[in-house]
Amino acid sequence: MRTRRVAPGPAAPPRDVLRELVRCARSARRNAHAPYSKFAVGSALRTRAGEIVTGCNIENATFGLTVCAERVAVWKAISEGLGPFTDVVVVADSPRPTPPCGPCRQILWEFCGDLNVHLAGSSSARVTTYRLSDLLPLPFDGRNLG
Ligand code: THU
Repeated sequence: MRTRRVAPGPAAPPRDVLRELVRCARSARRNAHAPYSKFAVGSALRTRAGEIVTGCNIENATFGLTVCAERVAVWKAISEGLGPFTDVVVVADSPRPTPPCGPCRQILWEFCGDLNVHLAGSSSARVTTYRLSDLLPLPFDGRNLG
């Protein structure tokens, strides 16, 4: 049997760091432009050096051009030359935690690697943490291109 080898990812952040990340994601969520779905999402990406970059979902009348909160945060960070990344927080107001969609998992993997993915609600203190490699097993990336 073949086992999949994933390089060890970043350690879980200290509690106060995670709390600050969640606070930033909640704050970014207030800027969500979601007139069609009415589903506001906020995100906060953390670099190894401790910088925090936030994003919110930005919808569009054609629907298909909508960009999720996570990707907004990634594009902002990359455009500012930031990285590498250790954590991403996703905040929404739904009965069950909102995980990144498939395309966002792919983009997070390619630009951020195997980071910690923390899912939080809009007010409760409860945060659920996953590794991106668990949310995106057998990923396709540049290494597959040879
Ligand atoms: N959305 C995000 O921003 N991130 C997610 O992880 C899931 C979905 C947005 C896209 C769209 O604006 C709205 O939520 C409903 O799908």
